[in-house]
Amino acid sequence: MKVCVVGGGGREHALALALARTAEVVLTPGSPGMAGSCRGDREAGAPLAGSAFGGPGERISVTGAPPEEVDAELFVIGPEAHLVDGLADRLRSDRRLVVGPGADGARLEGSKAFMKELLAEAGVPSARFGVFDDLGEARELLRSLPGPYVVKTDGLAAGKGVLVTESLAEAAADAEAKLSGRAFGDAGRRVVIEEGLSGEECSLMVLCDGSRVAPLAPARDFKRVGDGDTGPNTGGMGAYSPLSEVGDDLVGHVMEVAVEPLVGALRRRGIDYRGVLYAGLMLTDEGPKVLEYNVRFGDPEAQVVLPRFEDDLTGILAEVASGRLRSEPRFSKKAAVCVVLASGGYPTSPATGDVVEGLGDAAAIPGVSVLHAGTDLDSAGRVVTAGGRVVDVVALAPSLPEARSSAYEAAARIHWKGMIFRRDIAAEAAARGTAAEAAARGTAEGPER
Ligand code: AMP
Ligand code: GLY
Repeated sequence: MKVCVVGGGGREHALALALARTAEVVLTPGSPGMAGSCRGDREAGAPLAGSAFGGPGERISVTGAPPEEVDAELFVIGPEAHLVDGLADRLRSDRRLVVGPGADGARLEGSKAFMKELLAEAGVPSARFGVFDDLGEARELLRSLPGPYVVKTDGLAAGKGVLVTESLAEAAADAEAKLSGRAFGDAGRRVVIEEGLSGEECSLMVLCDGSRVAPLAPARDFKRVGDGDTGPNTGGMGAYSPLSEVGDDLVGHVMEVAVEPLVGALRRRGIDYRGVLYAGLMLTDEGPKVLEYNVRFGDPEAQVVLPRFEDDLTGILAEVASGRLRSEPRFSKKAAVCVVLASGGYPTSPATGDVVEGLGDAAAIPGVSVLHAGTDLDSAGRVVTAGGRVVDVVALAPSLPEARSSAYEAAARIHWKGMIFRRDIAAEAAARGTAAEAAARGTAEGPER
Protein backbone atom coordinates (compact mmCIF):
# COMPACT_ATOMS: atom_id res chain seq x y z
CA MET A 1 0.00 0.00 0.00
CA LYS A 2 1.17 3.55 -0.68
CA VAL A 3 0.70 5.88 2.28
CA CYS A 4 0.95 9.67 2.28
CA VAL A 5 1.97 11.36 5.54
CA VAL A 6 1.03 15.03 5.62
CA GLY A 7 3.34 17.31 7.60
CA GLY A 8 7.00 18.11 8.00
CA GLY A 9 8.02 17.65 11.62
CA GLY A 10 9.44 14.98 13.90
CA ARG A 11 6.04 13.35 14.41
CA GLU A 12 5.61 12.91 10.67
CA HIS A 13 9.14 11.54 10.30
CA ALA A 14 8.35 9.02 13.06
CA LEU A 15 5.08 8.07 11.35
CA ALA A 16 6.90 7.61 8.04
CA LEU A 17 9.55 5.37 9.62
CA ALA A 18 6.95 3.25 11.42
CA LEU A 19 4.71 2.96 8.34
CA ALA A 20 7.68 2.15 6.13
CA ARG A 21 7.99 -1.20 7.88
CA THR A 22 5.10 -2.34 5.69
CA ALA A 23 4.34 0.38 3.14
CA GLU A 24 5.76 2.75 0.60
CA VAL A 25 5.60 6.21 2.17
CA VAL A 26 5.53 9.65 0.65
CA LEU A 27 5.71 12.73 2.89
CA THR A 28 4.27 16.08 1.91
CA PRO A 29 5.96 18.42 2.43
CA GLY A 30 8.29 16.47 4.74
CA SER A 31 11.78 17.89 4.58
CA PRO A 32 14.70 16.93 2.36
CA GLY A 33 16.54 15.16 5.20
CA MET A 34 13.69 12.67 5.59
CA ALA A 35 13.94 11.24 2.10
CA GLY A 36 15.73 7.94 2.03
CA SER A 37 16.60 8.18 5.69
CA CYS A 38 15.57 4.54 5.96
CA ARG A 39 18.47 3.71 3.72
CA GLY A 40 20.77 5.13 6.35
CA ASP A 41 22.12 8.19 4.55
CA ARG A 42 25.05 9.26 6.66
CA GLU A 43 23.81 12.71 7.61
CA ALA A 44 20.14 12.27 6.94
CA GLY A 45 18.93 9.84 9.54
CA ALA A 46 19.04 6.46 11.11
CA PRO A 47 20.81 3.42 9.73
CA LEU A 48 17.82 1.19 9.93
CA ALA A 49 19.15 -2.08 11.24
CA GLY A 50 19.86 -0.61 14.66
CA SER A 51 17.29 2.15 14.69
CA ALA A 52 14.45 2.73 17.13
CA PHE A 53 11.86 2.03 14.44
CA GLY A 54 13.17 -1.19 12.86
CA GLY A 55 12.01 -2.93 9.71
CA PRO A 56 13.31 -2.73 6.17
CA GLY A 57 11.48 0.47 5.18
CA GLU A 58 13.55 1.40 2.14
CA ARG A 59 10.89 3.52 0.59
CA ILE A 60 10.41 6.99 2.02
CA SER A 61 10.21 9.90 -0.38
CA VAL A 62 9.19 13.54 -0.06
CA THR A 63 7.20 15.67 -2.45
CA GLY A 64 6.29 19.32 -2.70
CA ALA A 65 2.93 18.43 -4.23
CA PRO A 66 -0.17 19.37 -2.23
CA PRO A 67 -1.76 16.36 -0.49
CA GLU A 68 -4.76 16.42 -2.84
CA GLU A 69 -2.40 15.72 -5.74
CA VAL A 70 -0.47 12.87 -4.13
CA ASP A 71 -1.17 9.44 -5.53
CA ALA A 72 -1.68 7.31 -2.40
CA GLU A 73 -4.39 5.06 -0.98
CA LEU A 74 -4.09 6.02 2.67
CA PHE A 75 -3.45 9.51 4.08
CA VAL A 76 -2.25 10.17 7.62
CA ILE A 77 -2.56 13.84 8.52
CA GLY A 78 -0.13 15.08 11.18
CA PRO A 79 -0.76 18.76 11.98
CA GLU A 80 -4.04 19.93 13.48
CA ALA A 81 -4.23 23.04 11.28
CA HIS A 82 -4.83 20.91 8.17
CA LEU A 83 -7.59 18.99 9.95
CA VAL A 84 -9.29 22.14 11.21
CA ASP A 85 -9.05 23.46 7.66
CA GLY A 86 -10.97 20.45 6.26
CA LEU A 87 -8.18 18.60 4.45
CA ALA A 88 -9.60 15.23 5.55
CA ASP A 89 -13.01 16.17 4.11
CA ARG A 90 -11.47 17.14 0.78
CA LEU A 91 -9.49 13.90 0.54
CA ARG A 92 -12.51 11.79 1.53
CA SER A 93 -14.67 13.45 -1.05
CA ASP A 94 -12.07 12.17 -3.52
CA ARG A 95 -12.56 8.62 -2.14
CA ARG A 96 -9.24 8.42 -0.28
CA LEU A 97 -8.82 6.63 3.03
CA VAL A 98 -7.88 9.18 5.69
CA VAL A 99 -6.64 8.97 9.28
CA GLY A 100 -7.85 12.25 10.76
CA PRO A 101 -11.25 13.77 11.48
CA GLY A 102 -13.14 16.11 9.20
CA ALA A 103 -13.44 19.79 10.09
CA ASP A 104 -16.45 18.96 12.30
CA GLY A 105 -14.47 16.61 14.57
CA ALA A 106 -11.34 18.76 14.39
CA ARG A 107 -13.22 21.54 16.21
CA LEU A 108 -12.36 19.56 19.35
CA GLU A 109 -8.86 20.98 19.02
CA GLY A 110 -9.66 24.06 16.94
CA SER A 111 -11.83 25.51 19.70
CA LYS A 112 -11.07 24.84 23.34
CA ALA A 113 -14.47 26.32 24.21
CA PHE A 114 -16.19 23.71 21.99
CA MET A 115 -14.05 20.96 23.52
CA LYS A 116 -14.85 21.99 27.10
CA GLU A 117 -18.56 22.24 26.32
CA LEU A 118 -18.55 18.78 24.74
CA LEU A 119 -16.70 17.32 27.73
CA ALA A 120 -19.25 18.89 30.09
CA GLU A 121 -22.12 17.52 27.98
CA ALA A 122 -20.54 14.03 27.98
CA GLY A 123 -19.85 14.14 31.73
CA VAL A 124 -16.09 13.71 31.25
CA PRO A 125 -14.06 14.74 34.32
CA SER A 126 -12.23 17.99 33.57
CA ALA A 127 -11.27 21.32 35.19
CA ARG A 128 -14.00 23.86 36.04
CA PHE A 129 -14.02 26.55 33.39
CA GLY A 130 -15.61 29.60 31.82
CA VAL A 131 -15.49 30.94 28.26
CA PHE A 132 -15.12 34.70 27.75
CA ASP A 133 -14.99 37.35 25.04
CA ASP A 134 -15.12 40.06 27.67
CA LEU A 135 -12.25 40.99 29.98
CA GLY A 136 -14.42 42.16 32.86
CA GLU A 137 -16.24 38.83 33.05
CA ALA A 138 -12.99 36.89 32.67
CA ARG A 139 -11.51 38.85 35.60
CA GLU A 140 -14.57 38.09 37.69
CA LEU A 141 -14.16 34.32 37.27
CA LEU A 142 -10.42 34.59 37.94
CA ARG A 143 -11.10 36.42 41.22
CA SER A 144 -13.52 33.70 42.30
CA LEU A 145 -10.99 30.86 41.78
CA PRO A 146 -8.46 29.80 44.42
CA GLY A 147 -5.51 29.60 41.96
CA PRO A 148 -3.35 28.48 40.27
CA TYR A 149 -5.03 30.16 37.32
CA VAL A 150 -5.13 28.88 33.77
CA VAL A 151 -5.79 31.12 30.75
CA LYS A 152 -6.08 29.51 27.31
CA THR A 153 -6.68 30.87 23.83
CA ASP A 154 -9.84 29.39 22.36
CA GLY A 155 -8.18 28.97 18.95
CA LEU A 156 -5.03 27.18 17.78
CA ALA A 157 -1.72 28.50 19.09
CA ALA A 158 0.75 25.68 18.34
CA GLY A 159 0.70 24.51 21.96
CA LYS A 160 1.82 27.94 23.20
CA GLY A 161 -1.50 29.58 24.05
CA VAL A 162 -1.79 28.32 27.64
CA LEU A 163 -0.65 30.23 30.73
CA VAL A 164 -0.63 28.52 34.12
CA THR A 165 0.26 30.88 36.97
CA GLU A 166 -0.07 31.36 40.72
CA SER A 167 -0.42 35.11 40.19
CA LEU A 168 -3.91 36.56 39.76
CA ALA A 169 -2.40 39.78 38.33
CA GLU A 170 -0.40 37.83 35.73
CA ALA A 171 -3.46 35.78 34.76
CA ALA A 172 -5.55 38.94 34.35
CA ALA A 173 -2.83 40.63 32.27
CA ASP A 174 -2.54 37.52 30.09
CA ALA A 175 -6.31 37.41 29.56
CA GLU A 176 -6.16 41.06 28.50
CA ALA A 177 -3.27 40.46 26.04
CA LYS A 178 -5.11 37.49 24.53
CA LEU A 179 -8.55 39.11 24.33
CA SER A 180 -7.14 42.28 22.75
CA GLY A 181 -5.66 40.18 19.93
CA ARG A 182 -2.13 41.39 20.78
CA ALA A 183 -0.81 38.05 21.97
CA PHE A 184 -2.29 35.50 19.55
CA GLY A 185 -4.33 37.45 17.01
CA ASP A 186 -7.83 36.12 16.43
CA ALA A 187 -7.03 32.79 18.18
CA GLY A 188 -7.02 34.68 21.51
CA ARG A 189 -10.06 36.93 21.10
CA ARG A 190 -11.98 34.35 23.08
CA VAL A 191 -10.38 32.75 26.13
CA VAL A 192 -11.06 29.75 28.32
CA ILE A 193 -10.29 30.31 32.00
CA GLU A 194 -9.84 27.18 34.11
CA GLU A 195 -9.10 26.18 37.65
CA GLY A 196 -5.56 24.86 37.98
CA LEU A 197 -5.30 21.12 38.51
CA SER A 198 -2.31 19.38 40.01
CA GLY A 199 -0.81 15.95 39.56
CA GLU A 200 1.29 14.05 37.03
CA GLU A 201 0.39 14.44 33.37
CA CYS A 202 -0.15 11.66 30.90
CA SER A 203 -0.92 11.63 27.18
CA LEU A 204 -3.17 8.84 25.97
CA MET A 205 -3.66 8.55 22.22
CA VAL A 206 -6.61 6.45 21.11
CA LEU A 207 -7.49 5.14 17.65
CA CYS A 208 -11.12 5.72 16.71
CA ASP A 209 -12.90 4.41 13.60
CA GLY A 210 -16.07 6.44 14.14
CA SER A 211 -17.45 4.19 16.86
CA ARG A 212 -14.85 1.65 18.06
CA VAL A 213 -11.85 2.85 20.05
CA ALA A 214 -8.48 1.29 20.89
CA PRO A 215 -5.88 2.88 23.16
CA LEU A 216 -2.21 3.22 22.26
CA ALA A 217 0.50 3.08 24.93
CA PRO A 218 0.51 6.00 27.39
CA ALA A 219 3.32 8.55 27.14
CA ARG A 220 4.46 11.67 28.96
CA ASP A 221 5.70 14.80 27.30
CA PHE A 222 7.55 17.81 28.69
CA LYS A 223 5.87 21.01 27.60
CA ARG A 224 7.94 23.71 29.30
CA VAL A 225 11.12 24.86 27.63
CA GLY A 226 13.37 24.67 30.69
CA ASP A 227 14.62 22.00 33.08
CA GLY A 228 12.40 21.42 36.11
CA ASP A 229 9.34 22.54 34.10
CA THR A 230 10.35 26.18 33.98
CA GLY A 231 9.81 28.81 31.29
CA PRO A 232 7.07 29.06 28.69
CA ASN A 233 5.06 26.22 27.19
CA THR A 234 6.38 24.84 23.91
CA GLY A 235 5.15 22.28 21.42
CA GLY A 236 6.98 19.69 23.56
CA MET A 237 10.67 19.26 24.49
CA GLY A 238 10.78 15.49 24.96
CA ALA A 239 8.76 12.43 25.86
CA TYR A 240 8.94 8.88 27.13
CA SER A 241 6.86 5.72 27.17
CA PRO A 242 5.79 3.54 28.98
CA LEU A 243 4.71 5.13 32.27
CA SER A 244 5.12 2.69 35.16
CA GLU A 245 2.25 4.34 37.07
CA VAL A 246 -0.24 4.12 34.19
CA GLY A 247 -1.09 0.46 33.77
CA ASP A 248 -3.89 -1.32 31.92
CA ASP A 249 -6.41 -0.69 34.73
CA LEU A 250 -5.93 3.06 34.62
CA VAL A 251 -6.04 3.08 30.82
CA GLY A 252 -9.27 1.07 30.98
CA HIS A 253 -10.72 3.56 33.46
CA VAL A 254 -9.79 6.53 31.23
CA MET A 255 -11.39 4.80 28.25
CA GLU A 256 -14.56 4.31 30.28
CA VAL A 257 -14.90 7.77 31.83
CA ALA A 258 -13.19 10.04 29.31
CA VAL A 259 -13.01 8.48 25.85
CA GLU A 260 -16.15 6.42 25.29
CA PRO A 261 -18.52 9.17 26.56
CA LEU A 262 -16.79 11.67 24.28
CA VAL A 263 -17.13 9.42 21.23
CA GLY A 264 -20.81 9.02 22.16
CA ALA A 265 -21.22 12.81 22.28
CA LEU A 266 -19.48 13.18 18.91
CA ARG A 267 -21.77 10.56 17.38
CA ARG A 268 -24.88 12.25 18.82
CA ARG A 269 -23.77 15.34 16.90
CA GLY A 270 -23.48 13.27 13.74
CA ILE A 271 -19.66 13.40 13.73
CA ASP A 272 -18.04 10.29 12.22
CA TYR A 273 -14.63 10.66 13.87
CA ARG A 274 -11.97 8.53 12.19
CA GLY A 275 -8.49 9.22 13.43
CA VAL A 276 -6.56 9.71 16.63
CA LEU A 277 -8.13 11.13 19.76
CA TYR A 278 -5.36 12.40 21.98
CA ALA A 279 -6.36 12.92 25.60
CA GLY A 280 -4.06 15.15 27.65
CA LEU A 281 -4.73 14.00 31.21
CA MET A 282 -3.89 15.20 34.70
CA LEU A 283 -3.73 12.32 37.18
CA THR A 284 -5.23 14.15 40.16
CA ASP A 285 -6.01 12.87 43.67
CA GLU A 286 -9.63 12.68 42.53
CA GLY A 287 -8.74 10.53 39.54
CA PRO A 288 -7.76 11.33 35.96
CA LYS A 289 -9.12 14.57 34.49
CA VAL A 290 -8.93 15.69 30.88
CA LEU A 291 -6.87 18.85 30.29
CA GLU A 292 -7.43 18.84 26.55
CA TYR A 293 -8.29 16.74 23.55
CA ASN A 294 -6.19 16.95 20.42
CA VAL A 295 -7.29 15.46 17.13
CA ARG A 296 -4.03 13.89 15.91
CA PHE A 297 -0.91 12.09 17.04
CA GLY A 298 1.02 13.95 19.74
CA ASP A 299 4.37 15.50 18.94
CA PRO A 300 6.70 14.29 20.49
CA GLU A 301 4.52 11.51 21.96
CA ALA A 302 4.26 9.71 18.60
CA GLN A 303 8.05 9.54 18.53
CA VAL A 304 8.09 7.33 21.65
CA VAL A 305 4.85 5.37 21.18
CA LEU A 306 5.36 4.30 17.55
CA PRO A 307 8.75 2.61 18.08
CA ARG A 308 7.06 0.41 20.71
CA PHE A 309 4.16 -0.48 18.41
CA GLU A 310 4.20 -4.12 17.37
CA ASP A 311 2.38 -5.41 14.28
CA ASP A 312 1.49 -3.56 11.13
CA LEU A 313 0.83 0.16 11.65
CA THR A 314 -0.28 0.61 8.04
CA GLY A 315 -2.89 -2.14 8.43
CA ILE A 316 -4.38 -0.82 11.66
CA LEU A 317 -4.50 2.77 10.38
CA ALA A 318 -6.26 1.53 7.23
CA GLU A 319 -8.83 -0.13 9.54
CA VAL A 320 -9.32 3.18 11.36
CA ALA A 321 -9.74 5.08 8.09
CA SER A 322 -12.24 2.61 6.67
CA GLY A 323 -14.38 2.43 9.82
CA ARG A 324 -13.41 -1.20 10.50
CA LEU A 325 -11.13 -1.16 13.49
CA ARG A 326 -10.69 -4.81 14.55
CA SER A 327 -7.05 -5.13 15.61
CA GLU A 328 -5.85 -4.53 19.16
CA PRO A 329 -2.72 -2.39 19.19
CA ARG A 330 0.10 -4.22 20.96
CA PHE A 331 3.27 -2.69 22.36
CA SER A 332 6.67 -4.08 23.20
CA LYS A 333 7.88 -3.96 26.80
CA LYS A 334 10.82 -1.85 25.71
CA ALA A 335 11.08 1.81 26.69
CA ALA A 336 11.50 4.78 24.38
CA VAL A 337 12.83 8.26 25.18
CA CYS A 338 12.78 11.27 22.86
CA VAL A 339 14.88 14.38 23.47
CA VAL A 340 14.02 17.39 21.32
CA LEU A 341 16.94 19.55 20.17
CA ALA A 342 15.72 23.09 19.55
CA SER A 343 17.09 26.38 18.30
CA GLY A 344 18.15 29.09 20.71
CA GLY A 345 15.25 31.50 21.18
CA TYR A 346 12.58 28.76 20.98
CA PRO A 347 9.62 29.07 21.54
CA THR A 348 9.41 32.84 20.99
CA SER A 349 11.97 33.62 18.28
CA PRO A 350 14.03 30.62 17.17
CA ALA A 351 17.11 31.25 15.05
CA THR A 352 17.29 29.42 11.70
CA GLY A 353 19.86 28.69 9.01
CA ASP A 354 22.60 27.24 11.26
CA VAL A 355 24.50 24.18 10.04
CA VAL A 356 23.67 21.00 12.01
CA GLU A 357 26.51 18.56 12.62
CA GLY A 358 26.83 15.07 14.03
CA LEU A 359 23.54 13.51 12.86
CA GLY A 360 25.25 10.46 11.41
CA ASP A 361 27.35 9.91 14.54
CA ALA A 362 24.23 10.12 16.69
CA ALA A 363 22.28 7.72 14.49
CA ALA A 364 25.11 5.17 14.72
CA ILE A 365 24.27 4.49 18.38
CA PRO A 366 22.36 1.18 18.63
CA GLY A 367 18.63 1.70 19.18
CA VAL A 368 18.77 5.39 18.24
CA SER A 369 16.91 7.17 15.46
CA VAL A 370 17.48 10.76 14.47
CA LEU A 371 14.33 12.49 13.29
CA HIS A 372 14.12 15.70 11.31
CA ALA A 373 11.71 18.03 13.10
CA GLY A 374 12.62 21.37 11.52
CA THR A 375 15.51 21.08 9.08
CA ASP A 376 16.32 22.00 5.51
CA LEU A 377 19.29 21.52 3.20
CA ASP A 378 21.36 24.53 2.16
CA SER A 379 22.76 25.02 -1.33
CA ALA A 380 25.84 23.00 -0.36
CA GLY A 381 23.63 20.08 0.71
CA ARG A 382 24.27 20.58 4.42
CA VAL A 383 21.49 20.08 6.95
CA VAL A 384 20.52 23.46 8.46
CA THR A 385 18.06 24.52 11.15
CA ALA A 386 14.69 25.62 9.79
CA GLY A 387 12.39 25.82 12.81
CA GLY A 388 12.13 25.94 16.58
CA ARG A 389 12.23 22.19 17.19
CA VAL A 390 14.97 21.01 14.84
CA VAL A 391 15.99 17.40 15.57
CA ASP A 392 14.49 14.69 17.76
CA VAL A 393 16.71 11.93 19.04
CA VAL A 394 14.72 8.81 19.89
CA ALA A 395 16.15 5.80 21.68
CA LEU A 396 14.52 2.41 22.19
CA ALA A 397 16.04 0.08 24.78
CA PRO A 398 15.08 -2.74 27.15
CA SER A 399 14.67 -0.32 30.07
CA LEU A 400 13.92 3.37 30.56
CA PRO A 401 17.33 4.19 32.13
CA GLU A 402 19.06 2.60 29.12
CA ALA A 403 16.83 4.41 26.61
CA ARG A 404 17.45 7.70 28.40
CA SER A 405 21.18 7.20 28.46
CA SER A 406 21.28 6.39 24.70
CA ALA A 407 19.11 9.38 23.84
CA TYR A 408 21.39 11.75 25.76
CA GLU A 409 24.49 10.14 24.27
CA ALA A 410 22.98 10.87 20.83
CA ALA A 411 22.09 14.44 21.82
CA ALA A 412 25.70 15.01 22.89
CA ARG A 413 26.94 14.06 19.40
CA ILE A 414 24.79 16.69 17.64
CA HIS A 415 25.51 20.38 17.65
CA TRP A 416 24.85 23.70 16.02
CA LYS A 417 25.22 27.28 17.13
CA GLY A 418 22.76 28.02 19.92
CA MET A 419 21.27 24.50 20.20
CA ILE A 420 19.19 23.99 23.37
CA PHE A 421 17.62 20.92 24.96
CA ARG A 422 16.28 19.85 28.31
CA ARG A 423 18.58 17.71 30.45
CA ASP A 424 15.82 16.19 32.57
CA ILE A 425 13.63 14.32 30.09
CA ALA A 426 12.50 11.08 31.79
CA ALA A 427 15.00 11.73 34.59
CA GLU A 428 12.66 11.08 37.51
CA ALA A 429 11.09 8.03 35.90
CA ALA A 430 14.49 6.58 34.99
CA ALA A 431 15.69 7.11 38.56
CA ARG A 432 12.57 5.34 39.84
CA GLY A 433 13.26 2.52 37.38
CA THR A 434 16.87 2.18 38.50
CA ALA A 435 15.84 2.25 42.16
CA ALA A 436 13.21 -0.43 41.53
CA GLU A 437 15.76 -2.62 39.75
CA ALA A 438 18.20 -2.19 42.63
CA ALA A 439 15.47 -3.12 45.11
CA ALA A 440 14.58 -6.17 43.04
CA ARG A 441 18.21 -7.25 43.14
CA GLY A 442 18.00 -7.06 46.92
CA THR A 443 20.37 -4.13 47.33
CA ALA A 444 19.39 -1.06 49.26
CA GLU A 445 21.24 1.18 46.83
CA GLY A 446 19.56 3.25 44.19
CA PRO A 447 20.33 6.60 42.75
CA GLU A 448 19.02 9.66 44.49
CA ARG A 449 15.69 10.87 43.14
P1 AMP B 1 -3.28 22.20 26.93
O1 AMP B 1 -2.77 22.72 25.61
O2 AMP B 1 -4.66 22.58 27.23
O3 AMP B 1 -2.95 20.76 27.17
O4 AMP B 1 -2.35 22.89 27.99
C1 AMP B 1 -0.93 22.84 27.92
C2 AMP B 1 -0.36 22.51 29.27
O5 AMP B 1 -0.80 23.48 30.23
C3 AMP B 1 -0.81 21.17 29.84
O6 AMP B 1 -0.02 20.12 29.40
C4 AMP B 1 -0.62 21.40 31.31
O7 AMP B 1 0.74 21.28 31.67
C5 AMP B 1 -1.02 22.84 31.47
N1 AMP B 1 -2.47 22.95 31.83
C6 AMP B 1 -3.50 23.06 30.97
N2 AMP B 1 -4.68 23.11 31.64
C7 AMP B 1 -4.36 23.04 32.95
C8 AMP B 1 -5.13 23.04 34.16
N3 AMP B 1 -6.47 23.18 34.14
N4 AMP B 1 -4.46 22.93 35.33
C9 AMP B 1 -3.12 22.83 35.37
N5 AMP B 1 -2.34 22.83 34.26
C10 AMP B 1 -2.94 22.92 33.06
N1 GLY C 1 2.91 17.21 22.85
C1 GLY C 1 1.74 17.95 22.84
C2 GLY C 1 0.95 17.89 21.61
O1 GLY C 1 1.23 17.16 20.69
O2 GLY C 1 -0.04 18.61 21.55
